[in-house]
Parts: sequence; structure tokens; C-alpha cells
Amino acid sequence: MTFQWLFYSDTNAKVELLEESLQKRNYELTRLTYLERLFDYVKRESDVTLIIRASTVYNAYQLCEELSVKYPHIYIVLMIPDNMENARKAMQAGASNIIRFSADKEDIRSMIIHAEKYMQHRRQQADVTHMAAPILDQRVISVCSTKGGTGRSSTTVNLAAALTKEGRRTAVLDADIQFGDAAMYMDLRPRRTIYEWIKEGDNRTELDIDGFLTKHEEGVSLMPAPSRPEFFELVTAADIQLAIQELKKIYQVIIIDTSAAISEVQLQCLNDSDEILLLTEGSLPAVRNTKLYLDTLETMQLKEKVRLIHNREKKKGGMDPNKIAALAGQDIYFSLPDQQPLVEAAIEEGKPYVYAHPKKPLSKQMAGLARKLLTGTEKAAKKPKKKLLSKAQ
Ligand SMILES: Nc1ncnc2c1ncn2[C@@H]1O[C@H](COP(=O)(O)OP(=O)(O)OP(=O)(O)O)[C@@H](O)[C@H]1O
Ligand SMILES: [Mg+2]
Repeated sequence: MTFQWLFYSDTNAKVELLEESLQKRNYELTRLTYLERLFDYVKRESDVTLIIRASTVYNAYQLCEELSVKYPHIYIVLMIPDNMENARKAMQAGASNIIRFSADKEDIRSMIIHAEKYMQHRRQQADVTHMAAPILDQRVISVCSTKGGTGRSSTTVNLAAALTKEGRRTAVLDADIQFGDAAMYMDLRPRRTIYEWIKEGDNRTELDIDGFLTKHEEGVSLMPAPSRPEFFELVTAADIQLAIQELKKIYQVIIIDTSAAISEVQLQCLNDSDEILLLTEGSLPAVRNTKLYLDTLETMQLKEKVRLIHNREKKKGGMDPNKIAALAGQDIYFSLPDQQPLVEAAIEEGKPYVYAHPKKPLSKQMAGLARKLLTGTEKAAKKPKKKLLSKAQ
């Protein structure tokens, strides 16, 4: 985005010198002669310098005052006849600078430099404010299970998709460092991964971590796992902690896909999470392992964060959910139905089912899980009834 330069005058006043000086610095001057257009412009654009040429027909000082109060972000330069009285009036009207009708090249050049500095400073301030502003209602959610192939990656990717549909800025952190395949589940071919970010060493916090993420066209951003399994040794728990911290500056929700094996990296993810979604299937070995895992988390004081998810819930023939809860010693927080063809086709094609098939039962349940995590209830917010709406209007 470049800086905008506007010139407002109700006449066809000549401003060759100004145009020339701006061109030298690769700027273009937009000339406006209608007030409506001027107001439209300053309303929608930031980084604007507006030069108003005083005239006997309208009150330039009044216009300047009105604009500086309504749109304090614009840098207003009043172009005025050569006398002191006018200069004082211009300052009182809130002009950022003045320039005489008789201004020469040097005067114009210094006015442009002054305006540039002001706009640069303002932009930096805006960036700092943006970065420092705490993101409200922020969540870090880890998805884990005690054995491989339980549905961690497809749940991670689809839950992230469902959260973007709920309007949350969402990133997936693939912390299955050795064999992470979240990129494949979204048909993304990342150029950079967490490995490249870590290689930046101490400088990395000065870089924008977002530049290392790959964006899915529907909204989810992904910090991919390293492209080769042997790179895993380079990724430490401290790196993961820092990555989560940096992502929290940008994203509202960070969903972490973890590996099945308990490792330092995985424990760091769990520590830094607000919620741990523990997936289990309804089979005796799976539930027994889940119970063991829950006991381990209890000793680490992490059990509070656990939300038990019954994945692949079968309509017929599966273990009774009450029995799963009793054996695991933990209530089931949410159930996701068994829809193997849908999940497998989604993985095969690299299209999260929540995006590709939002009406399927599993997609609807995933949307419900996203809402429950965000609001405590899986129900969608009720739309106001049409009748009530038309009455109100
Ligand atoms: N809700 C579901 N319904 C039916 N099948 C499912 C469901 N969730 C997962 N699966 C099955 O489990 C398989 C593995 O899923 P996924 O890759 O997401 O698991 P994972 O835990 O990440 O595995 P890995 O240990 O390889 O990382 C899928 O190919 C699919 O067949
Ligand atoms: Mg996986």
C-alpha cells in the first residue's frame, strides 16, 4: 500500500510544481473538485495527505476544521495566500501544515517529506497497536490420542475448518513433528515449515511467523511439520512453546495436531493448551489405553483440561458410550459418528469434509463441536424470526 496524495480545489487551479515534485518521488496526485468525492475518498482511505487550496468562494479553514475533527488520520495541508494572518487561522483549523501560493520547489519538497514522515510514523504506530492488542477469547486446543490412526489429523483439520466457518481466525500447528501430514489433508504444498522458522534462530521473533504458514483458500492457516522425518531432532519443546506464543499474537484459535507417542514436544503442547481433546474409539483396548493416559495426565495436573471425544461412534454394534465413560473414568464431552467413506475421501482428495460436504452428519457434528468449544453449547445461535424482524423495521 502506498501513500495517497489528494488535491482539492473548486477551480482548475494549476499545480504543476506540486505534481512534478510528487512524480519525482513516484507519487501521483489525485485532483478532486467535488466535495462529495473528497469525503468519499477520505472516509475509505488511510495514509492520505490532502492539500486544500484556499479560495474566496468557500471557506477552506472551515472545511479543514471539519475534516480534521472527523478524519484525524489524514494529513491536511492548507495552501494559502502569503500572509501571517492566514497561517494562524490554518493552525487553529487543525491543519497539519501550510504551504503558500508562492511556494517554490524546495518548499514543496520539504512539505512532502514532512507528510511522508508523518504517514510512516502513523503506519508504524498502527502496526504496533495491532500486534500488541490482546486477541479476545483466544484458545489453544491440542488434539491427541494414545495410538496412531485414531483420527487426530482429520479431526484437527476439520475442526479448524469448522472454526473458520464460525468466523474465528484459526491456525493449525502440526506438532506431529516426524510424520505430520496435515498439509496433505488440506492439499497444501508448503514452501516453508516449522523447520525453516526454527533455522532462523534468535532472529525469528523479529520475523512475522505468519510468513512461514501456508494458507488454505477457505481460511485455515497451517504451520506445517518439517518436510523430512529426520529433521525432528531439531525441534525442541522450547521451539514449540515459542511458536505457540508467536501464533497467539495473530490467531484467535490454534489447533495442534500431536503425535501418538508422549514426548517433550507433545507435553509442551498439552501444557500450553487451554483444552486437550482426547480421542478414543469404542473398543476395549482403546478405552483401556485412554484410561492410562488420563491417569498420567492427572499426575501432571493436566487432566482438568481434557475433553474426552468418542470418535467413530457407531450406530450399531459399538461399545455403549456409558460404558466408555465408566471405564475411562471421565464423561464423554462429545461424540463424532463413524463415517469412513467420507473421512477417507476427504483425506484422499485433500479437501476437509466440513468445507466439501457441510451437510453430512459428521460435518454437522464437527460444526457442533466447534460451537461447543467456543460457547459451551453446540446449538447454532438462533436467527431472529422474519416476522419479528419486519415488525422491528
Ligand atoms: N469419524 C470417523 N469415521 C470413520 N473413520 C474415521 C473417522 N475418523 C478417523 N477415521 C479413520 O481413521 C483413519 C486415520 O485418520 P487420521 O489420519 O486422521 O488419524 P491420526 O490419528 O492422525 O493417524 P496417524 O497416527 O497416522 O497420525 C482415517 O483414514 C479414517 O479411515
Ligand atoms: Mg495424524
